[in-house]
Amino acid sequence: MCGIVGYIGQKEAWPIIVKGLKRLEYRGYDSSGIALVADGIKSYKKTGKVTDLEAFAEGKALGGKVGIGHTRWATHGEPSDRNAHPHLSEDGRLAIVHNGIIENYGPLKEELASRGHVFQSDTDTEVLIHLIADILKEEKTDLLEAVRLALSQVVGAYAIVVADRESPNQLVAARKGSPMVIGIGEQEYFIASDASPIIEYTRNVVYLKDQEIAFINADELLIKTIDNEVHTPYVQQLEMQLEMLEKAGYDHFMLKEIHEQPRSIRDCMRGRIYPQEGMVQLGGIKEYAEKLRNADRIIIVACGTSWHAGLVGEYLIEEYARVPVGVEYASEFRYRNPIITERDIVIAISQSGETADTMAAVELAKERGATILGICNVVGSSIPRLTHGGVYTHAGPEIGVASTKAFTAQVTVLTQIALYVAQLRGTLPQSKLVELLTTLQDIPLLVEKALNCDEATRYIASEIKDATNAIFLGRGIGFPVALEGALKLKEISYIHAEGYPAAEMKHGPIALIDEEMPVVVIATQNSSYEKVISNIQEVKARKGRIIAIVTEGDTAVKGLADYVIEIPHADEAFLPLLATIPLQLLSYHTALLRGCNVDQPRNLAKSVTVE
Ligand code: G6P
Repeated sequence: MCGIVGYIGQKEAWPIIVKGLKRLEYRGYDSSGIALVADGIKSYKKTGKVTDLEAFAEGKALGGKVGIGHTRWATHGEPSDRNAHPHLSEDGRLAIVHNGIIENYGPLKEELASRGHVFQSDTDTEVLIHLIADILKEEKTDLLEAVRLALSQVVGAYAIVVADRESPNQLVAARKGSPMVIGIGEQEYFIASDASPIIEYTRNVVYLKDQEIAFINADELLIKTIDNEVHTPYVQQLEMQLEMLEKAGYDHFMLKEIHEQPRSIRDCMRGRIYPQEGMVQLGGIKEYAEKLRNADRIIIVACGTSWHAGLVGEYLIEEYARVPVGVEYASEFRYRNPIITERDIVIAISQSGETADTMAAVELAKERGATILGICNVVGSSIPRLTHGGVYTHAGPEIGVASTKAFTAQVTVLTQIALYVAQLRGTLPQSKLVELLTTLQDIPLLVEKALNCDEATRYIASEIKDATNAIFLGRGIGFPVALEGALKLKEISYIHAEGYPAAEMKHGPIALIDEEMPVVVIATQNSSYEKVISNIQEVKARKGRIIAIVTEGDTAVKGLADYVIEIPHADEAFLPLLATIPLQLLSYHTALLRGCNVDQPRNLAKSVTVE
């Protein structure tokens, strides 16, 4: 959601910023813009893709070694050229790009308007740059101080970069609640919302912390806080490889990421499971072993696909470790005055590690004394820095907006946590631990087998591509899989889809079933197999089209379903890791056949940094 790129150094800024904005496209956006500081400030902005901005700017003055760029995902004001960033101060001296929301922009705007400020856009961002310009003029101070004073009046979340035509060799950046990374090159600095625009130039980066303001010129990086304390920049090395950000011969990032799952699941277990010993070791949470052993309850907070992974975690932790688990939408949890005690463990799951609601839920639970553990993918992101401990998923950068490999990696981590807590609490016989860990170790091979359904899912996609609705049914641990399957389909193909517990179908969705309705059923051979077969019969009786995910070799469901997709046999605990694969491919092919933008579906953002 909203991407920022800034450059200051010896090279031409425009191509670096354009390339950086393209790297950030995956975050989701509806317009983009760049301001260059050279002979004044020149600003170009356009609704649509970064390529539309390039076409618009072609032939115009694009020289300059300092610049700021932005991809905008509309919050205040519709997507339009006028509302796109950068925004300028009234006199055109300052330019700003901003990610986040200024919550008190209303009163600030009124106050500035009463003093004669006239605004060109509907955005909260323009109010902020007017405020900075106003302070600069009234207080007769420098840009760094004006930004600091302005931010101390602001309520909300932000990552900003400000350029100044009067001091053309400097940029000022700041963050609170929205991510920002500064890359350090040879007499040059790169600023971005995440490391992807920076990695091809330098591995040395500083992650700006909340309430920090950076003053950057080609030779110097100075960091202060909003309270005017000087901080020494902490330089870290990026571990990411550039190839991870490329499509590697696949047509789409989503397809590449689906096919990466055997590798990403393996990476997520490396050095953590010891099947022969029946042992799990999770270095990032071992300090909290005692708390986990004695926990009264575990609360999982997350959003979107990560929330679905949480539901799988609930099933696994309760089944194996016998600790009660509650799974909460972070956005609801934070506004509900929840009951949290010091004996609670809160697990926050987030691919990006930046989701605003999940961060707020973590902060709330932390204030109330709970122990907070994180399951995140992006190393160095905000949530891992807020939590007491955690387990990284190590799935590598996920660029497709619809989450695939991050989900299976989250489920893999939750499986390991469930078995780790079972080991701590002695709730599973050693032989069962050995058996489950042995299967877990083989899961990458089974996922590879499950990926063989590409042809079958493509065919089924051609059969359902014109549907307007779809239902996904599952029971037990298959229910979150159904939810995730439905979410994938609606996210990228725009077919309305609902995930439902198979037994609940009779309490509503059955009214929707007719010969047009595809009904995807998780019907693998597990504890609820017979019951799911009855549910299939009920759908059949109403002429619904059944697409069943079955265990290889199944005959009973084959006789009933219109289409079947086989997945390898494994213990029920591993159903989500295997059954999700065909559902990802089914959504992918359906979206493709409907001509949808698979990697960047409309209106969606990869990381939702506003509430
Ligand atoms: C957005 C993304 C989803 C993701 C959700 C939670 O909606 O489009 O793919 O599941 O945010 O994101 P997180 O980064 O916290 O897992």
